[in-house]
Amino acid sequence: MSQNEKRFFSHATIERNVGLLIVLSFLVIASSGLVQIVPLFFQHSTTEAAEGVVPYEPLRLIGRDVYIREGCVSCHSQQIRMLSSEVQRYGPYSLAGESVYDHPFLWGSKRTGPDLARVGGRYSDEWHRIHLRDPRVVVPESNMPAYPWLQHNSVEGENIQARMKALRSIGVPYTDEQIEKAPEDLVGKTEEDAIIAYLQGLGVASRDAAAEAMMSVGE
Ligand code: HEC
Repeated sequence: MSQNEKRFFSHATIERNVGLLIVLSFLVIASSGLVQIVPLFFQHSTTEAAEGVVPYEPLRLIGRDVYIREGCVSCHSQQIRMLSSEVQRYGPYSLAGESVYDHPFLWGSKRTGPDLARVGGRYSDEWHRIHLRDPRVVVPESNMPAYPWLQHNSVEGENIQARMKALRSIGVPYTDEQIEKAPEDLVGKTEEDAIIAYLQGLGVASRDAAAEAMMSVGE
């Protein structure tokens, strides 16, 4: 023991010297954090799109922005966790590669309402229309707010090309042709059409890839 106390890096020295303890704790946490985080930047499964995932089409992109503006993310998560109860209720759990084109991602952390990561195709467009205008018509006990104004707001004049170019500058692979033609996608459409298009595509394209990934780890 007395021998230990003489050594600079002995347990006793570190425990009695608060400054040293803080510096060393920081170094340990920082390096172990890096060991966990840095490889994620180089792993294909976290940096590349999951099979079937493509950049949002113009109308869906506008719908996503309406979703953000209306604060839907504050009641709905978009991340199915690897728990069997979640998988049974919502479908194959979410893969990192499904969110690569989401800037910002909308995983959320609050579930006043159900997770929406795989809501695409679960209901008809008409159901969504009725639900968005007044949720209580289809789900009497719902406490979700009504969004009746979306049907009256046209999206024709939206700056869709600028939004796509901004996303392209941070790595979303839109082609010049897609950007050129984007306004055509919005002709005659409302915010309600856009948000429904967005919802109907959620988790659909990559559902098979996600189910396969889940089976391969034995769920
Ligand atoms: C105050 C919380 C709250 C907000 C904000 C909210 N919702 Fe909901 N949402 C709910 C609740 C609760 C339910 C479950 C009852 C129901 O179906 O209405 C729900 C259900 C849903 C469903 C059906 C999901 C399913 O699997 O049955 C969809 C789709 C949906 N919301 C979309 C939206 C969209 C889009 C927005 C933003 C425009 C939004 N919600 C905003 C609380 C919220």
